[in-house]
Order: sequence, then structure tokens, then C-alpha cells
Amino acid sequence: MAEKKIEFRSIGIIHTPYKESAPNQPIEDAEGSFSIVVAPVFQEGLYLLEKFRYIYVIYHIDRLARRVNMVVKPPWAGGVQVGLFASRSPLRPNPIGLSIVRLKKIEENVIYTSGLDVFDGTPLLDIKPYIKDLDSKMDADYGWIEDLDNRDHLILHIKGIPHEY
Ligand SMILES: C[S@@+](CC[C@H](N)C(=O)[O-])C[C@H]1O[C@@H](n2cnc3c(N)ncnc32)[C@H](O)[C@@H]1O
Repeated sequence: MAEKKIEFRSIGIIHTPYKESAPNQPIEDAEGSFSIVVAPVFQEGLYLLEKFRYIYVIYHIDRLARRVNMVVKPPWAGGVQVGLFASRSPLRPNPIGLSIVRLKKIEENVIYTSGLDVFDGTPLLDIKPYIKDLDSKMDADYGWIEDLDNRDHLILHIKGIPHEY
């Protein structure tokens, strides 16, 4: 099958306190300032976004040096191997990241959010509102994470929630 090449352009820049390492997933009450600077040419597209409590942030995971493998070991899963597409690994054939965060406020072309899990300067690809009912599935499950012995403890690691061991 021929691979079709698709080109995207970045529509803004994400700012976080993380220069070298970032959490595995967004931490809602992470310390520091988190903001998304949308290119002024797209500012009008933010109209009424502030009405939503949560947004999807879609970005280019741009600083990856390692090669992509189809089988991965999530760092928090105690050595369990899973297929790449059954994971949230940042090392993917198309390095696209997705984070759901709380929208705090918008000032002109800057969106202030709760904690994001990306390096400072990560290029923004898109923003979408997270909509009640449409975006939450009441029967969602934990997939293969369900089978792990210490599931509840591992979930604290995924979410970056501090806890006693
Ligand atoms: C496990 S990924 C999850 C990303 C997103 N929440 C998702 O599920 O698609 C988060 C990790 O990506 C890495 N990361 C974040 N921003 C990056 C960037 N701009 N370039 C390379 N790696 C990045 C960090 O190591 C961070 O811990």
C-alpha cells in the first residue's frame, strides 16, 4: 500500500514548565503555568471556546530521537508488553499527541489551562471542545490494564497522583 504524505502546519505553541521531562499524562493540579499561544491569524476561531470547561489539545510530539517500535513497554506498567496502538506511547509513526485539559481562561490569543504533559515549546496542531455525553462513555474500561495485578496503584502512576507506596 502506498503511503500518502500529509502535511500539517503548526497553529500555535504550547508553553509548560517542562524543559526535559514531562508527566506521562496531564496532571490536573500540576504546579506552574500552562498556556497555549494560538497564532493571531486563528484567534477568531477561539470565539465561544471559553464556554467549555474542558478541551482537547492536539499537538506534534516533535522532540523524539528514538525509533518507533510496534511493541512497547509502558514505563509505569511493570514490564508488560503491548502493541503500540494499545498504548499512549509518544513514539508513534505519526507523532500526534492528545491531552484533555481544563480551560481556565482565554485572553486574546492565549488559552490558560490546567497541567499539560508536553515539553515547553511543543507545536500545536488543533483544539476541540470536550463535550459532555458526546465525549464520555459511561461503559469505558481499562483494556489490558484491567489484567494487571496492582491496577489501582498503577493508575495513580499514570495520572501522576502522589501517593504512599
Ligand atoms: C506518554 S505521552 C502522552 C501524550 C498524550 N497525553 C497522549 O496520550 O497522546 C507524554 C510524554 O510525551 C513526552 N513528550 C511530551 N512532549 C513532547 C515533545 N514535544 N517531544 C517529544 N516528547 C514529548 C514526554 O516524555 C511525556 O511524558
